Amino acid sequence: MQVHKYDVVIVGAGGAGMRAAIEAGQRSRTAVLTKIYPTRSHTGAAQGGMCAALANVEEDNWEWHTFDTIKGGDYLVDQDAAEVMAKEAIDAVLDLEKMGLPFNRTPEGRIDQRRFGGHTRDHGKSPVRRACYAADRTGHMILQTLYQNCVKHNVEFYNEYYVLDLIMTEVDGVRRPSGVVSYDLASGEIHVFQAKSIVFASGGCGKIFKTTSNAHTLTGDGMAIALRSGLPLEDMEFVQFHPTGLAGLGILVSEAARGEGGILRNSEGERFMERYAPTIKDLAPRDIVARSMANEVREGRGCGPNKDYVLLDLTHLEPAHIDAKLPDITEFARTYLGVEPYTEPVPVFPTAHYAMGGIPTNIEAEVFRNSEETIPGLYAAGEVACVSVHGSNRLGTNSLLDINVFGRRAGIQAAQYAATAEFLPIPDDATERTEALLELMRSGHGEEKVGVLRKELQDVMDADMQVFRTAKTIHSALDKIAELEDRYTRIAIQDQGKRFNLDLLEAVELGFLLELAKVMAVAALHREESRGGHFREDFPDRDDENFMKHSMAYLDPEAETDSVAGIRLETKPVIFTRYEPMERKY
Ligand code: FUM
Repeated sequence: MQVHKYDVVIVGAGGAGMRAAIEAGQRSRTAVLTKIYPTRSHTGAAQGGMCAALANVEEDNWEWHTFDTIKGGDYLVDQDAAEVMAKEAIDAVLDLEKMGLPFNRTPEGRIDQRRFGGHTRDHGKSPVRRACYAADRTGHMILQTLYQNCVKHNVEFYNEYYVLDLIMTEVDGVRRPSGVVSYDLASGEIHVFQAKSIVFASGGCGKIFKTTSNAHTLTGDGMAIALRSGLPLEDMEFVQFHPTGLAGLGILVSEAARGEGGILRNSEGERFMERYAPTIKDLAPRDIVARSMANEVREGRGCGPNKDYVLLDLTHLEPAHIDAKLPDITEFARTYLGVEPYTEPVPVFPTAHYAMGGIPTNIEAEVFRNSEETIPGLYAAGEVACVSVHGSNRLGTNSLLDINVFGRRAGIQAAQYAATAEFLPIPDDATERTEALLELMRSGHGEEKVGVLRKELQDVMDADMQVFRTAKTIHSALDKIAELEDRYTRIAIQDQGKRFNLDLLEAVELGFLLELAKVMAVAALHREESRGGHFREDFPDRDDENFMKHSMAYLDPEAETDSVAGIRLETKPVIFTRYEPMERKY
C-alpha cells in the first residue's frame, strides 16, 4: 500500500472537480483522482450551453434567472443557493472566457446567447436568450479549457484511480475525514491519499437506468461512498429525464435544438406542447416536456411502428443554421438512427439525464453530516452534490453553471480550510473495508454475472421508476432490487488478474448502483406527492403542506422505512428567501 499526502484531494475530474482544482491548486498542494482521463469526463457530453444573465442579446437580469431556477425546481430549491448561482453566473462565464473558452459570438463580438427550457424574461412572460454556448459542444469546450488551466496551476492528476472509500478518523468522539482509499486500475494496487480537505466531484448515477444520456462511468461512486460512510443523501427521488434522447438509445439531443427553433410533434403532426405549456411551449422545463411526451405516447399519439416515440422537427430550419449551431447532435441522428435532420424529423423519447439529489451541502460546498451540522474538511460539488439549487427539477444549462459556481467555491473553501488544519492520522485499518470488498468480488464462485444483474436493474428502473410512478410500480422496483441484492452475493467475475481489471471494478460499481437504486425507490415511495421530476400518478398534486421538505436518506441496518429494511429517512427544511411557492404554469 502506498500513501500520498496532499493538502487538498479532489475526487473526480469533470467540470466541478477541475474548477475546484484550479482554485485549490493556486492555494495549496492539490491532487485530482479520476477513474478516467480528465478530458473524457462526462462534462464533455454536455451540449447546449451554460446560462448567465449577461443580457448580451436582450434584456435579462440575475433576479429573473433566480426566479426561473426556483420555479423550474418546483419550489424545492434552496433559494439562497439559487441566488448565489444566478448572481455568480456572470463572472463564472467571464472567467471561462478569460481562461480561453471559445464561445460562439454575436456579429458585434459579444458572447452569443440562446434560449433554453424554463429560462424566461420577467418571471415567465416569454423565453429569454440566456444560454452562452459553443455550438453544441459547450461541455466539451469547458472540460478542455479547465484541464488546460489545471495544468497551468500545477494540479497533479492521478488518472484511472478509482476512489472506493472515504477514510474517517475519530477525533474527540467525532468522525472526521482524513483521506480516501483508491484503486489504481493499471497496477491493481491500493493507494491511500491523506488530505486535510477532500472534495467529492465524481458526478451522477444515471447508469441506474437503461435509457440514459449518461456515460458508462456514471455509477454513483461518490454518492454510494458517502452513504456507506454514514452520511446522508438528499432528495434522491428526483431524477431528471431529458426529453430528447435519441429514441431507443437515449443518446442526448440537446435542448438547444428547441432553443434554436426545433418543434416536438406527435403522430398527427401536432405541436402538442401548445396544449401542455401554452406560453413557452417546447421550451417548458424538462419535467413538463418529458411527461407531455410520455403522455402523448400513452394516449396513442406516438410515432413509428411501435408508436413509442415522438418527433423533433428541425426541417423548417436552414441547413446552414443547423450546421453552425447544432453540428454534433444532427450528426448523431444521422449516425445512430440514419435520419437526415435537414429533411426528416428525429425520433426522440425521454432519457435519464441528471440526479437532482446527492451529497447534501450548503452554499460553501461543505457537506452535511445530518440535517443541521456540516463536517469540517469535507466538500462536494457538481452532480454528486445536492446544494439543492435544482430542487426537484433542474433547468437546462444550470448544470454547467452549477459545476463552475460551486466547483469554484468548493476549491476555495477546501484550500482555505487546509491552510489552517492539521493532517489527521490515518487509522491502521483504513484500507480494510476496501480490501475486504475487493476480495469478496474476486473470490465469488456463484452462478450470477455482473452484466446480467446490471441489465435487470436498469430494465426495472426504466419500467417502474421513470417519468410516471405509482406505489405499485415503486414496490415492483423494490422487490426486484431486493432480488438482485440477494443474487449479488452470488456473483463471480472472470478476470482474476491485477492489471486493468475492469471486470472487478464493474462488480464494485454494481454494488453502488443497487444501493442507490434502493435509496431512490424508498424516497420515491415515501414522497406521496408529485413535484418536478417525481410524478406519482396516485398522488398527482404537489403537497406543500406535507412535503415541502428535503428528504435525507441514511443506510441504517436497524431502520425500516415503508417496510423497506436498512434505510432511514429524515427531512431537512427548504431554505426560502423571497419567493413564495406558486402554482407552476408555463
Ligand atoms: O440539452 C442539453 O444541451 C443539456 C444541457 C443540460 O443538461 O444542462
